[in-house]
Amino acid sequence: MIIIFPFVLLLAGLFSGAVWADNAAVSEMLDVYIQQGAVQPDAQAGKAIWLKTFIASDGSIRSCTTCHGNDLKQSGKHVKTKKLIKPMAPSVNPDRLSKTRNIRKWFRRNCKWTIGRECTVVEKASLLAFINQQ
Ligand code: HEC
Repeated sequence: MIIIFPFVLLLAGLFSGAVWADNAAVSEMLDVYIQQGAVQPDAQAGKAIWLKTFIASDGSIRSCTTCHGNDLKQSGKHVKTKKLIKPMAPSVNPDRLSKTRNIRKWFRRNCKWTIGRECTVVEKASLLAFINQQ
C-alpha cells in the first residue's frame, strides 16, 4: 500500500487538467472552460478558428492572423496601431499564456473584434489548446 499510493497520485495527476499543460494558467483556464461545458478541448478545432476569416459589419475581413500573423512563432503587427505584437507561441515566448488575467482579457477583446461576438467556452478551450501547443 505504501508503495502503490504515490503511483495512484501520479496517475490521478496525469488524468486531471494537469495533463493539458505544464502551464498552471492554461490548466486553470481549461478547467474553468470544462466546468462551463467545453467537453474536449480540441487543438485542431482551435487551429481552424484561428485561421478562419470573418467579415465585419464595415466589410473588412478579419482573422486572428490579422494581427498575430500566420506564424505563431513570429511577431505579429497590430492592424490598426501597427505596433509589434510578440510571438504567440509559448515555445518561443514563455510569457504567453502565463497569466489567466491576460488570457481572459484578450480572448474577450480579440474575439469581439475578430468574430463580432465573444467566443464560446468550447471555442476558447480549443483555441487555448492550439496556442499552447505552438
Ligand atoms: C486587432 C488585433 C488583434 C487581433 C485581430 C487578434 N489579437 Fe490577440 N492580441 C492582440 C494584442 C494587441 C494582444 C496583446 C499584446 C501582447 O500581449 O503582446 C493580444 C493578445 C492575445 C492573447 C493573450 C496571450 C497572452 O497570454 O499573452 C490571446 C490568447 C490572443 N491574443 C488570442 C487571439 C485570438 C484567439 C484571436 C482571434 C479570435 C486574436 N487574438 C486576434 C491583438 C489582436
